[in-house]
Amino acid sequence: MKTLREIDVTGKRVLVRVDFNVPMSDAGEVTDDLRIQMALPTITYLLEKKAKIILCTHLGRPKGQKVATYSLAPVAEYLAGLLAEQVKLAPDCIGPEVEALVSAMEPGDIIMLENVRFHQQEVENDPQFSEQLSRLADVYVNDAFAVSHRAHASVVGVAGCVAIKAPGLLLQKELDYFRRSCAEPQRPFVAIVGGAKVSGKLEALENMLDRVDRLILGGAMANTFLKGQGYDVGASKVEDDLLETANTLLAKAKAKGVKVYLPVDVVAAETFAPDAVSKHVTIQDIPEAWMALDIGPASVLCFEEALADAKTIVWNGPMGAFEMDAFSRGTMAIAHCVATSHALSVTGGGDSNAAIKKSGEAANISYMSTGGGAFLMLMEGKQLPGVVGLSD
Ligand code: 3PG
Repeated sequence: MKTLREIDVTGKRVLVRVDFNVPMSDAGEVTDDLRIQMALPTITYLLEKKAKIILCTHLGRPKGQKVATYSLAPVAEYLAGLLAEQVKLAPDCIGPEVEALVSAMEPGDIIMLENVRFHQQEVENDPQFSEQLSRLADVYVNDAFAVSHRAHASVVGVAGCVAIKAPGLLLQKELDYFRRSCAEPQRPFVAIVGGAKVSGKLEALENMLDRVDRLILGGAMANTFLKGQGYDVGASKVEDDLLETANTLLAKAKAKGVKVYLPVDVVAAETFAPDAVSKHVTIQDIPEAWMALDIGPASVLCFEEALADAKTIVWNGPMGAFEMDAFSRGTMAIAHCVATSHALSVTGGGDSNAAIKKSGEAANISYMSTGGGAFLMLMEGKQLPGVVGLSD
């Protein structure tokens, strides 16, 4: 697979699949620009090389309909501001009008195609739609790590229609950090896995057991492990159908010599609300009808201990309902601990990144991945369709 720098892009029409699926406010403003910022190196490189840059992305899940709230107009404007360059928004992503706009481009021009998911054929990886997209390109670049787990037309199909293709600088960076953290880690290697559900992370947990030295489990998913171990977790969120699975995972970890750290205390609340009555209790004392919404201070100490001499840390999923201040202390403490460690620290997933941002530690994390599902797929030990599609 050629790298972007090995390809002659000067004066060429370069179709760049980016993932600008960014959070937006109700007023239509970009509220978190991490994904846009991270794509700038590829865009500025192509600008320097005087390529004709055609950006392609999805925003939200408009289900094949043209939905005004999912238009990329505010994103194009935001990018134009960051680059101090004109970014013209095309009325669509395929069709004669768009082809005419692209043919009229000068080297160094930037066009953003309208939301590629306004066409249902995008998510169906429709060959005809891929071919229509490919008409806009001399070169195809995939810089959309965060959607590379989806076999969609603009991610996979179009790569099969364009002879000259390469990963963008962000995609390469993401894969490089993943290799350094998960594939070739310096040890001790500690994974922190949290978030709401075990079910979405089962395969990742299974695969990580073959790689890590220690596994820290927090967030609501830890409740399932605790209940499986016989603790009464009250009205906490639990996946009852996975109690056996959770126990099997713990047994596997033991057999492999992986140390697993579960919460020993929690902040329990009467209701799931920012102003709920709450108290700090050990996991033996969660009152009936109360729910665990954060890890407690003793758990933080245990987890800090497990992280203290780590050389590599991978973190996916918060330790509790950190979006509510009353239940954010555990997650914030772990964020500070990861940030101040001497380990290579890599985090992935929208919630973990939002938590790190809230903790003010973003600058002290080695790498915050732009991917959620894509990051998890790599943790599962699988290949990303969007990366496989770039191979000849
Ligand atoms: C993401 O935000 O995880 C990616 O942009 C993929 O979006 P999707 O889950 O709607 O495919």
